[in-house]
Amino acid sequence: MNIHENISLKKLNTFGIDASARYYAGFSTIDEVCQILSESKFVNSRKLILGGGSNLLFTKDFDGIVLKNNLKGIELVKEDVDHYFVRSAGGEVWHELVMYCIANNYAGLENLSLIPGNVGASPMQNIGAYGAEIKDTFYELEALHIQDKTIHKFNNAECKFGYRESVFKGELKDQFIITSVTFKLYKKPIFNTSYGAIEKELEVMGIKELSIKSISDAVCAIRKSKLPNPAEIGNAGSFFKNPEVIRSKFEALKTEFSMIVGYDLENGNVKLAAGWLIEQCGWKGQRFGDAGVHKLQALVLVNYGNANGSEILELSQKIIASVKEKFDVDLVREVNIV
Ligand code: FAD
Ligand code: EPU
Repeated sequence: MNIHENISLKKLNTFGIDASARYYAGFSTIDEVCQILSESKFVNSRKLILGGGSNLLFTKDFDGIVLKNNLKGIELVKEDVDHYFVRSAGGEVWHELVMYCIANNYAGLENLSLIPGNVGASPMQNIGAYGAEIKDTFYELEALHIQDKTIHKFNNAECKFGYRESVFKGELKDQFIITSVTFKLYKKPIFNTSYGAIEKELEVMGIKELSIKSISDAVCAIRKSKLPNPAEIGNAGSFFKNPEVIRSKFEALKTEFSMIVGYDLENGNVKLAAGWLIEQCGWKGQRFGDAGVHKLQALVLVNYGNANGSEILELSQKIIASVKEKFDVDLVREVNIV
């Protein structure tokens, strides 16, 4: 077990921010991380659990220890008449788990293809895309309590999943390391093409017979056409959440801004497309030094090379202020600020 000192995190976060970590260690077993956590110099220091670094913005150097989750392994743990129960270690790459499930005909994760990051982070914000969220197929997870070093199990209800939310971002923030996640997947697929763009893409691809593989292919194609690839330009996906407003507020906005984009929610409220709001404020494609707003998707802030985290954060503050001024709507950041 190697503990490194003062290392650059630039290659370990998809924003490509050049912050450094006072201490850094990877762990491949639970014993290994317990040993690190027990070292006297780390007992009271700050800890950051790192997966793929695709939902983080470092605004300064990290003065504690960064612990990189390298736990590996995917297994079919049980099955019933209708389901496969598949457990993945937290350090597995999310998209590789999705590909493994598709190859084995385990249905349910295909709409979530190509989301960057690791399995261990997927419950943190209940990752979602193209009409699905992990809460739809999540069965349980195991997590190590950082203070007392015991393993706890959380079922779906205990995770308190919401839109880009879970108990681990809320009341249990910074208390657990998610070590494995088990998904309850279908033997007989339930194809979910409710998200309009999927239907269109399947048509373009000339797909006549649906399969979990063809849905995954369509989702991958849409994502590649819409979202910047972090290997080419630094970003962490959507920087803000799509805000929820009450219906009367939406109706009032609609009289003034007839093109406003909103989606009806089950609770009667409306979810607004933050990308539209930001674009209407004139931010899309704007660049300030190396910090900018993506030219095709205004919800994505980008680092053209050497922006630092404070510049990106400052840009996000200006965007929040202008959306508030024009629409009286509060944008909330989705990305974790460190
Ligand atoms: P990291 O960025 O490493 O960590 C994120 C947070 O989780 C941090 O607070 C970290 O401390 C904590 N954490 C990480 N691992 C653990 C663990 N094992 N235990 C406890 N805490 C942990 N997200 C979506 O929901 N839908 C999308 O469609 C989507 N598209 C994206 C597109 C792009 C191009 C990019 C760059 C990002 C996108 N994201 C999307 C965001 C991101 O992919 C997800 O949030 C992903 O789950 C982050 O995983 P990660 O391993 O990179 O987490
Ligand atoms: N729009 C604009 N201008 C823009 C961007 C978007 O007007 O610059 C409008 C368009 O009308 C479009 C609508 O916003 O129809 C929605 O855009 P899109 O389909 O691209 O989705 P999104 O709401 O911007 C959300 C998620 C993504 C997820 C996609 C697909 C959030 C915060 N973002 O984006 O998740 O991949 O839907 O399901 O919910 C992420 O979380 O990092 C992420 C990328």
